[in-house]
Amino acid sequence: MHRTLSVASSPVRDLLALTSRPEVISFAGGLPAPELFDLDGVRAAYDLALRDRAVLQYAPTEGNADLRALVSARLTGRGLPTSDVLITTGSQQALALVATAMLGPGAVVAVEEPTYLAALQCFRMTGARIVSVASDADGLVPESLRSVVAREKPGLLYLVPTFANPTGRTLSASRRVEIAEIAAAHDLWIVEDDPYGELRYRGSAVPPVASVSDRTIYLGSFSKVGAPGMRLGWLRAPADLLRTLTIVKQAADLHTSTVDQAAAAAYLAHNDLDAHIARLCVEYGARRDAMIAALSATMPAGTTWSDPDGGMFVWLRLPGDVDSVVLLKDALSHDVAFVPGAAFFATAPDHATLRMSFTSNAVEEIREGMARLAKVLL
Ligand SMILES: Cc1ncc(COP(=O)(O)O)c(C=O)c1O
Repeated sequence: MHRTLSVASSPVRDLLALTSRPEVISFAGGLPAPELFDLDGVRAAYDLALRDRAVLQYAPTEGNADLRALVSARLTGRGLPTSDVLITTGSQQALALVATAMLGPGAVVAVEEPTYLAALQCFRMTGARIVSVASDADGLVPESLRSVVAREKPGLLYLVPTFANPTGRTLSASRRVEIAEIAAAHDLWIVEDDPYGELRYRGSAVPPVASVSDRTIYLGSFSKVGAPGMRLGWLRAPADLLRTLTIVKQAADLHTSTVDQAAAAAYLAHNDLDAHIARLCVEYGARRDAMIAALSATMPAGTTWSDPDGGMFVWLRLPGDVDSVVLLKDALSHDVAFVPGAAFFATAPDHATLRMSFTSNAVEEIREGMARLAKVLL
């Protein structure tokens, strides 16, 4: 069979179908809260964009010049000096472009264990071999990376270093520097996938890996701070690589939607995105706190969970011989859902783990959903 036909469909997708019954309180999808979308601001931005006929025309592969400049300025303002970016159709496309350009049969890519499962799908489709690196509460363990690099010689390391999907963990600043040193010494490229970094609810920002390693391809997204339906992301890389990836994108889809890019540029020019993000952080922070408090009150002794400073996810490990896929079937009969953790592991799945998102339910729903889950675990 051709290798793309043997890639399993994403369990998250299959699950989302099962959890769409209105009575289900779903902690499964990594979705932003729709009631917090800035619908009026986005509508006004599309109105502005549509005053120009050119937004319905073909456009350059690199992306809308205003949007590129605005995104570059935002990254520079966050401590990552940026002269240009490639606009992509979500950061998922950026991952696909990197995989197409840099991986293939015979290539080796190193990932955290566990990691974002749609990145694993993307890498598997190229026929590359995936090797895993251990992580703990401070993110990827540099010692483990050193031994994986010596043994497996990967060309690429994929990281979600800030408020990771699925664990919510953040790679410490000192480990970022250590990993940058390992990358420099072994000609390793790092992909820093950072859709959640601006959603911080406590503590202070950690410098991006790209600010300490020039061997980094940095991926950003409008999906979690703006609206995922607009499908807008960006990729920052050294100039040579940016050119190569632009050519790969040209072959993939010519360019990202002209009108959506123009609307995003108009939105950024006429709105204070930081103020919008600050509002998201207040609400998501309260939801995070509600989920953590409910976990402390209801989970069986021996359960462990991550305590994220931001992002969308809490990662749980249940005690005993539990399979969270079986548990999900019970949970669905009690009208509550989560994502079983096994799919996030590239090599050695831990079946007692699960991922819960706290962003798309209000505090009261979180309390009710956690009470339902507690009944399943009795
Ligand atoms: C770590 C990570 N990378 C990439 C993506 C894809 O995001 P986008 O909507 O920008 O394609 C997601 C979405 O959940 C994600 O969690």
